[in-house]
Parts: sequence; structure tokens; C-alpha cells
Amino acid sequence: MGIDIDIEDSQFLDEVVSRIRQYLEGSSQVSDYILPSRLRKISDLSIPLEGRGLENALNDIDQFLKHSVKTNLPGFMNPLWGGINLAAFAGEIIATLANNSMYTYELSPMATLIEQSLIQRMCEMVGFADGNGTLTTGGSNGNMIGMMCARYHANPIGQQQGFDGKSLVCFVSEESHYSVLMSANVLGIGFDNVIKVGCDSDGRMRVDKLEEEIHRSKVNGQTPFCVIATSGTTVRGSFDPLKEIAQVCSDQDIWLHVDAAWGGSCLFSATHRRLMDGVELADSVCWDSHKMMGLPLVCSAFLIKKPEVLRKVCSHGDVAHYLFLDDAEKVDLGRISLQCGRRNDALKLFLAWREKGDAGWARLVESYVEIAEYLESKIKSEAKLQLMSSRQWTNVCLRYYVADIDSNVLNKNLRDRLVKTGNFMLSQSNIGDDVILRPVIANPSITKETIDELVEEIVSIGDDIVRGIPFSN
Ligand SMILES: Cc1ncc(COP(=O)(O)O)c(C=O)c1O
Repeated sequence: MGIDIDIEDSQFLDEVVSRIRQYLEGSSQVSDYILPSRLRKISDLSIPLEGRGLENALNDIDQFLKHSVKTNLPGFMNPLWGGINLAAFAGEIIATLANNSMYTYELSPMATLIEQSLIQRMCEMVGFADGNGTLTTGGSNGNMIGMMCARYHANPIGQQQGFDGKSLVCFVSEESHYSVLMSANVLGIGFDNVIKVGCDSDGRMRVDKLEEEIHRSKVNGQTPFCVIATSGTTVRGSFDPLKEIAQVCSDQDIWLHVDAAWGGSCLFSATHRRLMDGVELADSVCWDSHKMMGLPLVCSAFLIKKPEVLRKVCSHGDVAHYLFLDDAEKVDLGRISLQCGRRNDALKLFLAWREKGDAGWARLVESYVEIAEYLESKIKSEAKLQLMSSRQWTNVCLRYYVADIDSNVLNKNLRDRLVKTGNFMLSQSNIGDDVILRPVIANPSITKETIDELVEEIVSIGDDIVRGIPFSN
């Protein structure tokens, strides 16, 4: 016998579905910028002593959605993700409905087999024929597990006896994601032992500099244990030269982890997968499906060439006699995860992948690159805009420029007005000393018309600032 769904429950569910539909069909504004102090004032955020019932939950949902940034709209180009994938959205809801936890097969039979199938497919795409892996909470977590496996490879006994972080050093490009520092922090490696390797003018790690830094660290008595190469850097979308880096790592027996959180989806495209040539030579890779593939947060894979290393670094779970039974070793995913209770992130990826197929993902990725090329060409043809970095992926770095005006102040002000106007949201960043604007194409609702409107709005806001016209919204 299931639970009773009475009329009130049933109406509630119908109302929730109708709100989902209204949300998807509704607004044209990405954001309705409001100061935190004002939002706090006009919202009911109190936690009641007596419950207020399901009807009130509908009001709370309305209040929440009204003030949420509309990440499904085309003007949302801020982080490295956006839009909505309906099959994946359904997977998210159904996974929550079933509410399984991924640690044992017994509790999550279908989800376990689905995750294994996805991981196997992603390993094939990366070129890890006998590889394995796990879904994680994101690229940050994947980078940390990569560094952890590298540390185990360099010093297996340390897992038992503790690590002396002082002598272990890791190498990353100076444009790598900050999660590498987080990983060094959590694992006791220390920030000073993350060596930032210089990049070329396109933001790619310089292999000659990597060799120099490795040599220098050895002379200093340190032990190089890990190189983290980036496939798709956060700001410029640059791809480090994996083949050459892998050669250096293999010559010196250093673990190579590839942070493909952002760029991994290039592997779907016959045209763009060359960006990650040599990835099969790496030891581990992380790849976010919640970025370019548009899965709801979170959905990310950590993949490893030698599965036994991941099994070893997760061996703390072997004492959990209350959870893992010996005969289920091969199917209990909790044995290759750092988490205990874990969400089912596999179903949504499975549904989306089955809906689209490899060919559908390839078309999506290629259409994004085409739109990014279009934006690049618009910038090049607009006298007041400057392209601030070569474009390799779908990150497009630009600024509004006029002579004799401080460009950094101008572009910060421009972004502020753009976001407050509410039609577009894009990120602000730095390249060297320059403040830049970075729209990213990773949202299926963006079209060339969206790009025309974006460029028009950037130029118009920039012109207003230059003419001293105050902002009004
Ligand atoms: C290159 C790169 N690596 C890792 C991450 C972290 O990914 P996540 O947000 O999934 O933890 C990001 C996030 O933007 C990224 O750009």
C-alpha cells in the first residue's frame, strides 16, 4: 500500500506543475535586481512555530520564483551554464521522488547500473578503456579527488601514516580554476606548494615553463606529484596542450589530472575534440555535465584510468560493516566515492543523453561554437568594442573602449548597469590588469538575434556612460 494522496495533496501537485509551466513560459527579464536589505524587508522569511500548511508552500514557491534569476532565458550568459533541458529536469524530479542513495546497489539498483553505464561511456570517450569513476558534486570535487589519487600514487603509505605536505608540489597553469587551491587546502598540500606555471598569449600552459618549474622544485628538494592541466579555462576557455604535458608527466612519473569541467563536452564533436588531443594519456579527468551539456546542477564525472587507485583512496569505507556487504563489492558505488549518502545524479544525465544521443550533444556543442564565432565577428566589426583574448571555445572576452577614459572603471560600471537593466547577465573578470566582460555561450535558448541585442545593449550603455547620462531603471 502506498501513501494516500488526498484531494488537497493532489491539488497541490497540480498547482506546482502549473507554476513550473508558468515559470518556463513567463518572464522576459533575466533578473530583477534588488538589494539584499530590500529583499529581506519585502519577503516573509520567518520560520514558524506552528506549520502553515501546503497552501502556504505555494505562496512561498511564488515568492521564491519571483525573485530568482531566470537562468533559462537567452540573456543569461553569466557562468558556464544556462538554459533548461526538459528530459534532465524530469530526471531530477523523479530521482528526488525515488530518493535513493547511491552507496549500495541494494538501495539503488537501477540508479547504480545507470551510473555505471554512463561512467563507462564517458571513460570510452576520454580513452580510458579499462577506466572507472564516479559522479561527484562538481569539477571542484573532481579536481580534489584527482589530486588525492595523485598523492596516493606518490606516497601510498601516507594514507595510513599521514602526509608530510611540505615536500609534495603540484603544477597548474596560472589560469587554472581556484578549486585547485581548495584541493591543496583540504588535502594539506598547502597553497605554496601549488606552483603556477606561466601561459602563452592565448592562455595555454607553457610546457617549457612546466619543465623548468619541475626541475626547479627537484633542485629545491621537493617532490613533484601532480600536474593539473585545464581543458577549457574559466575566463578565456583555453585548452592546455595535453599531449606535450602528458609526455613530461610520463617521463617523470608525475600524475596527470585534466580539469575538463568546462571543456570536456568538446569530445562529442568531431570538429572540436582535437582541443583535447592526448587526454587518453592522462591518469584522471573531471568533466561537468552541468556546464555545457546543460544538466541541472549538480552533475559531474570524475574518471580514472586505473580504477584500483580510486578504490584505494576510498578504502576508509571498508570498516562500514553496517553498509557494505562483501559480496556486493563490484556494484556498491559507495566504495568508490568520498560521500556516504549521495544523490542520484545519474538518472537526469541518462534521460538527457538517451533523448539527444551523441549526435544531439555534438550538434549542441557545434551550435554554441558557431554562435560564439558570430559574437566574435560582431565585436571585431564594432569600433567601440575590443576582443580581449583569442577565442578557442565559447568564452568571448571583450570590453567597451574609448580613448582617454579609464577602461576598467568604465567596464565595471557598464556591467553593473547591464545587470540592473535586467535583460542580460554576463560575468566580469580580469585578464592581466584589464577588466573584461565575458559572455559565455552555454545556453540553448541563445540565438544570433540574442547576440545582436546584447551587442546593441552593451554599446548603448557604454555610450550613455561616456556621455555622462545617469543610470535610471
Ligand atoms: C575550469 C574549471 N574547473 C573547475 C570548475 C569548478 O566546477 P564546479 O563549479 O562544478 O565545482 C570550474 C567552474 O567554473 C571551472 O571553470
